Amino acid sequence: MKVQLPAVTLPRSEVDSPDGVIVVPGRILPQRDIDIDSAEVAALIQQARTVAVNAYAPFSKFHVGAALVMADDESSKVFSGSNVENSSYGATNCAERTAIFGASSAGFRTIRIIALTTIDSLNAPLPGRSPCGVCRQVIKEFSNADTLVAIDTGGDGVLCELMDVERLLPFGFHFGAKR
Ligand code: THU
Repeated sequence: MKVQLPAVTLPRSEVDSPDGVIVVPGRILPQRDIDIDSAEVAALIQQARTVAVNAYAPFSKFHVGAALVMADDESSKVFSGSNVENSSYGATNCAERTAIFGASSAGFRTIRIIALTTIDSLNAPLPGRSPCGVCRQVIKEFSNADTLVAIDTGGDGVLCELMDVERLLPFGFHFGAKR
């Protein structure tokens, strides 16, 4: 089915200062019409919920799940993962990265769609359910302009919140800026 991602207009501005111009970068993303298979998204969200139950989260007790399909995988295998915490805290791996690193290790490079769920915070405002900055950067590394991110809302009758990577991570770093 067709879904419209609305245009995003963030105006650029420049302000003179005695020490040089201060630039506030702008961004214009045109409106996009995309095609999604809502049954596929629903199945991915369900798989993300299932794997989230296996999260190793003894410290935060916050269980996250991710399920994705790679655009360059003809078999459309679903890779999934949950967060894996560590006593050191810093060695913790988020669900998104667990799933993406599995797909990358299987030889695939470009996410077609990734579904995410935070089963302990469903129905919370988006910042309580959306991917952390590190995971946004990792999603960007394995994405193209068509990559979609579907976030479970938990809302009755609401399938997901849907965005592309430019809308998830404007100005995200890319070495060599090839994407
Ligand atoms: N977490 C994820 O798995 N993905 C995110 O994008 C945000 C945070 C995990 C890490 C940690 O185990 C727990 O959620 C609380 O931060």
